Amino acid sequence: MSEDQKRAAGEAAAALVKPGMVVGLGTGSTAAWFVRALAARKLDIVGVPTSQATAELAAGLGLRLGELGEGKGIDLTVDGADEIGPGLSLIKGGGAALLREKLVWEASKSCVVIADAAKTVKTLGKFPLPIEVVAFGHKTTAARICDALAECDIGIAPILRRKDGEPVKTDGGNLIYDAHCGRIEEPAALAAALKSVTGVVDHGLFLDLADRALVGTPDGVIELEP
Ligand code: A5P
Repeated sequence: MSEDQKRAAGEAAAALVKPGMVVGLGTGSTAAWFVRALAARKLDIVGVPTSQATAELAAGLGLRLGELGEGKGIDLTVDGADEIGPGLSLIKGGGAALLREKLVWEASKSCVVIADAAKTVKTLGKFPLPIEVVAFGHKTTAARICDALAECDIGIAPILRRKDGEPVKTDGGNLIYDAHCGRIEEPAALAAALKSVTGVVDHGLFLDLADRALVGTPDGVIELEP
């Protein structure tokens, strides 16, 4: 069911792409539907992937790939999200690709977020907020993240993300801490507090970046604006 909604949103977004565009290719299961639908259209476009996983998927489907900063700028980026809140504020990074995603989003003329209906929320924060940190001294950084969270009245400690017992490494070789905030009442204040911590590379709050959302629902794809 949610997979059908993700697929419908991905296909709707693929229909927005025009020949000649440079397209940011998001990461995750919803973005993968977009990449598949885009490849099926066989347009003359260049894709800029936001992760190694997406690069491999897109190249395998025959899409031409470029790098961020090469040639002309990115016309449109399409990517998934873990939560879509008020004003199209987002939590991203469940797939640990948040840094490359944010670099590509910020370089794009237009950004479209695609998701299934379960991702829309009234308040961000139920989904653990991913925070990417450099590996050197990461436990010290985690303690300082704790202080930054406390400044925002969020009294929790972030948890180092592991897979099969080992710390997860991002494509850039960094680590991810997940902050189980519960509710993020003031996302902009939290974003600023986290960015002020030395050792934090970035976080999964994407604020004022999405121009529209295409959300798959049981009744079809709906469009949301900020
Ligand atoms: C990857 O790091 C994320 O930002 C994904 O875009 C996000 O986790 C959504 O993934 P799904 O589409 O798989 O739910």
